[in-house]
Amino acid sequence: MSIVEVQQMVGNTVGQMSESLPALILVTAALSLTLAYFSKLAFRQPRSQGTDEKYPPHIPASIPVLGNAIAFGKSPIEFLENAYEKYGPIVSFTMVGKTFTYLLGGDAAALLFNSKNGELNAEDVYARLTTPVFGKGVAYDVPNSVFLEQKKLLKMGLNIAHFKKHVEIIEEETKEYFKRWGDSGERDLFEALSELIVLTASRCLHGPEIRSMLDEKVAQLYADLDGGFTHAAWLLPGWLPLPSFRRRDRAHRELKNIFYKVIEKRRQTTEKEDDILQTLIDTTYKDGRSLNDDEIAGMLIGLLLAGQHTSSTTSAWLGFFLAQERSLQDRCYSEQKDICGDHLPPLSYDQVKALTFLDCCLKETLRLRPPIMTMMRMVRSPQKVGDYTIPAGHQVCVSPTVNHRLRDAWSSRLEFHPERFLADNPAAGEKFTYVPFGAGRHRCIGENFAYMQIKTIWSMMLRLYEFELVDGYFPSVNYTTMIHTPSNPVIRYRRRERL
Ligand code: HEM
Repeated sequence: MSIVEVQQMVGNTVGQMSESLPALILVTAALSLTLAYFSKLAFRQPRSQGTDEKYPPHIPASIPVLGNAIAFGKSPIEFLENAYEKYGPIVSFTMVGKTFTYLLGGDAAALLFNSKNGELNAEDVYARLTTPVFGKGVAYDVPNSVFLEQKKLLKMGLNIAHFKKHVEIIEEETKEYFKRWGDSGERDLFEALSELIVLTASRCLHGPEIRSMLDEKVAQLYADLDGGFTHAAWLLPGWLPLPSFRRRDRAHRELKNIFYKVIEKRRQTTEKEDDILQTLIDTTYKDGRSLNDDEIAGMLIGLLLAGQHTSSTTSAWLGFFLAQERSLQDRCYSEQKDICGDHLPPLSYDQVKALTFLDCCLKETLRLRPPIMTMMRMVRSPQKVGDYTIPAGHQVCVSPTVNHRLRDAWSSRLEFHPERFLADNPAAGEKFTYVPFGAGRHRCIGENFAYMQIKTIWSMMLRLYEFELVDGYFPSVNYTTMIHTPSNPVIRYRRRERL
């Protein structure tokens, strides 16, 4: 089976993400109706009976159970921006029997980012999605203190010495991948970058053995596993006999078996690799306990999947912003020549880091198209914020997308203007106004890896090609997928003539 077919299989992942949100909402609503009475009791807006407590303003909805789900599902950012204008930074609404309270803007967001996990809890909202995919014993399946240790161990492996090797690997994979694009044409950019990033991430984050096994069958396993990250898995009960749930669970078992064999071999040999897998094999928790094979496999799967859609969506949007304005591409290309030399030799990590203007373009892409639209926590005990008390049972949310375009914080807020990041304080001062990687105890550990990977890939792509929009079409945002992908993401390219 050729690598092209393998990558097409990986590309199917993308297709599997695009389930229709409105359809799911309707299915969920049908299920919910049977529980409507109970959910009404559980999630009704509590009243401040005889106390001084004031609950956040609640957006009314005329449709029972569904609440505001249809208006929100159609255009979530518009919905939240209107809510901010009308009700202010803290606002609640109900969808499918659950109450969501959004903290809009940097000041309000501080509650979520500064909170203790016991009060605003991540496992309660994320575990049903992640545990079937990563497995038990890792991430949101364990107490947050254990997950924090796991993040620390993974971070040890995401170090500069490894990044130096990763740049070489990514450069090689990118050159190899784009051979099939030829001299010119029109292609699905998001699909290509998704296929490329699963290859680069597998080799950098999992090691050479696992990358070498990335054939058609393994690619399909990743696609099936990734098919677990859908609105369906988040909204519907896990016991439903859905084919996508069964495929996800089988893929999980089979992938774990592959990882177990590689870990076993590594444990037996005396020669040590210098990579993340080896770091996890050799390290221990604070209490001296080594990680077992199941934990290592789960952490590696989690590491790959946490970066897969986030990085491929961001890379694709970056491509469209660059294609939209030729002068940005020219500037990124000449920056490379200035830093690497006119003959453009292989990139080094230090050079990738020094590409300041490309860095600004990536930052600006993450401002306008942050892949994680909402971070969420379950309120376990009543929370005071400003004048309001948010009751237990609400799901508290912060949306980077909304914070990144607030009228009061950003100038030319909807324009792609990378130079703003050359200034010290592009977001008018507020602390949590720019949060593409989150903040606080749940902050992303993959930021430096993501920057290194995306900048290396785009540096190579700009050496190979010049890009333009197809007949001026800039993709609209597809709100039906969990991560907001570009709709119909086809780009036009032509081989760059080196002068
Ligand atoms: C452009 C790329 C990426 C973006 C925009 C992104 C964004 C985020 C955000 C917003 C969070 C916080 C979630 C929350 O607070 O609920 C997060 C957490 C996390 N990310 Fe990333 N991420 C990216 C790439 C990666 C990569 C490449 C990896 C791994 C190599 C990774 C691993 C993680 C992990 C382990 C967490 C911790 C979750 C927690 O503690 O609850 N991410 N990421």
